[in-house]
Amino acid sequence: MAQTDLQRFCDELRAKISIVDVVASKVKLVRKGREYQACCPFHNEKTPSFTVNEAKGFYHCFGCGAHGDIIKFEMEANGLTFMEAIEKLAHKVGLQVPRMTHESHEQAEKRNTAYEIMEMAAKYFEKQLKLTGGAQARDYLARRGFGEETIAKFRLGYAPANNGLKALLASKNVSEPEMAELGLIAVPEDKNRRSHDFFRDRVMIPIMDKRGRVIAFGGRIMGDGQPKYLNSPETPVFNKRRVLYNMNYARDAGYEAKALIICEGYMDVIAMDKFGIGYAVAPLGTAFTEDQIQEAWKVVPEPICCFDGDSAGVRAAIRSIDRVLPILKAGYSLQYAFLPDKLDPDEFLKARGREEFLKVIHETMPLRDLLWKKNVDGQPSATPEQKALIEKNIKEEVSKIADATVRNYYAQDMQNRIYYELGRGAWRKQSGFGREEYRPRRGQKTAETRPAVSALSPVRTNLDDLSAQYVVSALLCYPELLEEYEEKLLNFDIKNETLRQIFDEAAEIIHEAEIVPESDALREKLVEKGLEKPMRGLLEFKMMRKQNPDIIKMRQSLDERIAEEQLKQLEAEIKDCLKTIETSESFPEEVFSRYESLKKEKEALLNAQDAG
Ligand code: UTP
Ligand code: MN
Repeated sequence: MAQTDLQRFCDELRAKISIVDVVASKVKLVRKGREYQACCPFHNEKTPSFTVNEAKGFYHCFGCGAHGDIIKFEMEANGLTFMEAIEKLAHKVGLQVPRMTHESHEQAEKRNTAYEIMEMAAKYFEKQLKLTGGAQARDYLARRGFGEETIAKFRLGYAPANNGLKALLASKNVSEPEMAELGLIAVPEDKNRRSHDFFRDRVMIPIMDKRGRVIAFGGRIMGDGQPKYLNSPETPVFNKRRVLYNMNYARDAGYEAKALIICEGYMDVIAMDKFGIGYAVAPLGTAFTEDQIQEAWKVVPEPICCFDGDSAGVRAAIRSIDRVLPILKAGYSLQYAFLPDKLDPDEFLKARGREEFLKVIHETMPLRDLLWKKNVDGQPSATPEQKALIEKNIKEEVSKIADATVRNYYAQDMQNRIYYELGRGAWRKQSGFGREEYRPRRGQKTAETRPAVSALSPVRTNLDDLSAQYVVSALLCYPELLEEYEEKLLNFDIKNETLRQIFDEAAEIIHEAEIVPESDALREKLVEKGLEKPMRGLLEFKMMRKQNPDIIKMRQSLDERIAEEQLKQLEAEIKDCLKTIETSESFPEEVFSRYESLKKEKEALLNAQDAG
């Protein structure tokens, strides 16, 4: 591609402006050998892993992977757009940003024709599938269960084993360099050999951008040869890292279904569509990128990543953690679904059908569970040192979350888990993972196993009786709230014997039922367990039944109550820490950092209250 004025201008800026100067205006740099170091401005850290290399003109963070040049730094550190960043840098050295010139206009034009050429190719492949030469490909698709409708919707085609596309495009005045630039022909290094069609004797899957324009192709071999799939190379219209296959259809389907499935291959996407699940997308043979996560978040806040349940699938899922942690933001995350028996979505749907599939898809593991699994599975955790290592690793990962509020909640959540599952609170040892393991079973607790209180672990405080009444009553009115609130209530003890008994029994019943029981059914069961009398004493409950508040209001007031209790608890803990700090002989680093994080937590809680 010809260099535009703008690109040349950027090179000039990079040559004239020191990256060290640019970065130093934002963070304090310390010279270390040939490089400069600092604490990374893009994630939270205490020891510097952010480096700046003047000679190479870039910065790099070994902690969070942030990487770029002066322009990227201005954009990311100051929230500027590309043009704004260039303006700012140009101003610094007294240069004028060139206006969008001819060349870039020409380029835009060229891009248009690129889309036209890709469209010609797509039409050509579609047509070849219908001709005599496409018989084998038609058979192949039929064997895979893809009918007329699917073929038409996804514009599946066939690339014959000749140079038909090159000839066709040549006849339409497309030059060879243009064909090569779009990855439609392959040009041998040996200048004496002629170029030929890039895709030969393959079933063709066009890849569309969000607007439905063809930007690339995937071609599948029909037999067992290698590579199984051949994809277009990066071209001026195809950026692999950004595109998600099928987004053109899945966007609307996803809005409607309020769900988006991200799976591993485009054949899986097509298979799901055939089963009426139109809200699936796939990256294109590469690992899931940040750009793709951002794209998916534009459709739904918590896309479901669907992986094969084998170890490769789990590893792939775990790799995605590194991509998503730095960009997590309030309300946005990923969920994970694992298909059993080494099946991919295509095979699973064929073998077990749509209902079974949807069941698996909706039994998701939240990101936090996967993060936990990543750090705990297969790790010995019997000794204090081993536990400490796990805790250290988890803390390091949590520190990669750039968003302060999300990071704080993760820190708190992981701290709780460390405490309840590895620490003294692990009164209920379990293996495996998933929702099961993080379920407090108050009923099984005895005086001996009840966790002790220490300044360094979350303190379980007593829920005051009024709040406890409220919580228990809410649960009796809306049993479905249990799952949601159980965890939030983890740090509280219900001191009142009767209330605790009702809560424990109700929780037991709800956990054991396949479907969460309705309020009346739950009460009947509690009556069977001999709790009629204590329940009758629940004034709050009677009042709630009478007023019949809707579940949204119920949630709100529960949230408020819990937040109040949390605040009380935090304040007590902060006081404790302060006391320890004041009376310590040496600097109590650990207590101090706990104190800091408690204060942050308190702040976050107060902010959340203000917002709500
Ligand atoms: P899989 O090997 O899981 O294939 O690759 P699949 O989706 O199950 O395909 P079928 O059912 O055998 O036809 C998953 C994805 O990895 C990329 C493709 O994007 C594919 O959809 N891939 C795989 C390649 O790019 N090249 C390959 O050679 C193999
Ligand atoms: Mn498959």
